[in-house]
Amino acid sequence: MEWVEGKVVDNINWSENLFSLRITAEVDPFTAGQFTSLALDIDGERIARPYSYLNAPGQQPLEFFFYTATGGVLSNALVNLSVGDSVFVRRQSNGFFTLDEVPDTNDLWMLATGTGIAPFLSMLYTSEPWQRFQRVVLVHAVRTRLDLQYQDSIAALLAAHPQQFRFQAFVSRESAAGSLPGRIPAALTDGSLEQSLELTLNPATSHLMLCGNPDMVKDAVEVLKQRGFRKNRRRTPGHITVENYW
Ligand SMILES: Cc1cc2nc3c(=O)[nH]c(=O)nc-3n(C[C@H](O)[C@H](O)[C@H](O)COP(=O)(O)OP(=O)(O)OC[C@H]3O[C@@H](n4cnc5c(N)ncnc54)[C@H](O)[C@@H]3O)c2cc1C
Ligand SMILES: NC(=O)c1ccc[n+]([C@@H]2O[C@H](COP(=O)([O-])OP(=O)(O)OC[C@H]3O[C@@H](n4cnc5c(N)ncnc54)[C@H](OP(=O)(O)O)[C@@H]3O)[C@@H](O)[C@H]2O)c1
Repeated sequence: MEWVEGKVVDNINWSENLFSLRITAEVDPFTAGQFTSLALDIDGERIARPYSYLNAPGQQPLEFFFYTATGGVLSNALVNLSVGDSVFVRRQSNGFFTLDEVPDTNDLWMLATGTGIAPFLSMLYTSEPWQRFQRVVLVHAVRTRLDLQYQDSIAALLAAHPQQFRFQAFVSRESAAGSLPGRIPAALTDGSLEQSLELTLNPATSHLMLCGNPDMVKDAVEVLKQRGFRKNRRRTPGHITVENYW
């Protein structure tokens, strides 16, 4: 693995468990939706984990969005970094959770839990989704209202693409105006997500990308399979493309 030494230019603490780092580092070009690795030397050992780029390709500083996982080794060290501190960034990016893996269709649905919204924001900051799809839907499912970050960016995207772009939040552990309660798979089963978005899911016209909590991904894929959607694979193109965060 080839590491580049990056410098922290911003550490934004959104809440007790949630933060973003902005880092300048001379990494190789990446495609929106891909991830790199970040690393720190902790007790003499280089500890590395994968993280999705949130910024658009070609932009500096690089941006990443984190949860401090309970007892998590690296996330609890990254949250303590200050402006000017060093962090290692893997030079090359990885991953196939990118729009060039998605076959042409009418509507693109992006379903995220927690920090899984990061690769979608990177994609939405590029021109590709707006050129390729009639409608683009972003769904962000979180536990609490405070976990609904990047609302300004989403509002700017809605203003820039009023006909094309729709957003729906889920807040599962408290009530929040404008958000749906509960979880994505249940709302796919009872139709409440489609009702709220005034848009119907159909394998002939929709592709779904899912990112974040692997249980959400698994449960949602189960529901979608019952509705005729199939996993998208390079050899057998389908309607569901996924990225599991753990
Ligand atoms: C392709 C890919 C992209 C990723 N991108 C991001 C990202 O953009 N932002 C991010 O915060 N994490 C991301 N992760 C997860 C990240 O790599 C680490 O697993 C996470 O930061 C925990 O590392 P740690 O050393 O603090 O915890 P560890 O000591 O390794 O403990 C890991 C445990 O923390 C929990 N966990 C891991 N990631 C998350 C998460 N994102 N949200 C909630 N709980 C979690 C799980 O229960 C997991 O078993 C990504 C993972 C993958 C595979
Ligand atoms: N966010 C916090 O306030 C908080 C607090 C302490 C620690 N942490 C750390 O952060 C980690 C997770 O943070 P997170 O908020 O991103 O948690 P998460 O557990 O991934 O929750 C994000 C959203 O996904 C939903 N979800 C969970 N399992 C699902 C499933 N099987 N199908 C569909 N949806 C599902 C959650 O609903 P439910 O609410 O119904 O589960 C919630 O709405 C924890 O494991 C912990 O390490 C976070």
